[in-house]
Amino acid sequence: MKTATERLVKRLFEAYADKLVPRLPTVHKHNVTARARYSLEGGSTGNPDCGFLYLLVRAFDRKSVFEIGTYVGTSALCMGAATRLNGGHLVTCDPENYECLPEAQKDIIRYLHMDQEQALLTLKQEGAEIDFVFADWQPSLASVELINELGSRDLIFTAHDYVLPRDKGVVAYELMSEHYVRAKDCTWFLPDEQPIQVTPEIQIQQCTAAMIPNELLGQWV
Ligand SMILES: C[S@@+](CC[C@H](N)C(=O)[O-])C[C@H]1O[C@@H](n2cnc3c(N)ncnc32)[C@H](O)[C@@H]1O
Repeated sequence: MKTATERLVKRLFEAYADKLVPRLPTVHKHNVTARARYSLEGGSTGNPDCGFLYLLVRAFDRKSVFEIGTYVGTSALCMGAATRLNGGHLVTCDPENYECLPEAQKDIIRYLHMDQEQALLTLKQEGAEIDFVFADWQPSLASVELINELGSRDLIFTAHDYVLPRDKGVVAYELMSEHYVRAKDCTWFLPDEQPIQVTPEIQIQQCTAAMIPNELLGQWV
């Protein structure tokens, strides 16, 4: 029997595969070449999770994406491509500047060379609203409180590395479940034990936890 996460992923993929599938090789190439150029050994977000983020941003028409942890920008590149199709933009922050974001995306991807709390405070001062968060670094409690202030009523929250017993995505899940003001009106979609095979060649969603407002779920569950 399919899990709720598998059902959601497969429905999203059926609806938006046409634009995502041709993009996946470019995303993988950026991941590999950007890290190789600077001899970076640390992990960048892999294609199954980038694909899942793309589908969420695209299907739920997200227009103001906020990312914690740019690193080489693989996930920013993928979510940026999705939000561009929605007429939106993305802000990503990292206290370390790896300078890997592609020039061609700089019209819609804004990089803030600062930590998560400074970045959220900057957006708050600008009067910004955010409708999608991807945390690829553990969010702090202060950040969750800022997300409570800046987040749209239908904010979607996602976190990478939901790996038991307590990788950073699990900590993000715990923090958001306890401190996010609208948590009780949302449903978590947690990763299955294996990535979801949507075609013989393509896997989507490996270790990203997604919290989606119930009011958005309608046709997708
Ligand atoms: C796993 S990497 C992110 C990978 C990225 N999503 C990608 O696709 O390349 C985590 C990043 O979080 C950054 N980081 C560390 N502390 C941070 C903080 N307080 N706020 C924002 N980013 C932080 C690290 O410098 C690192 O580059």
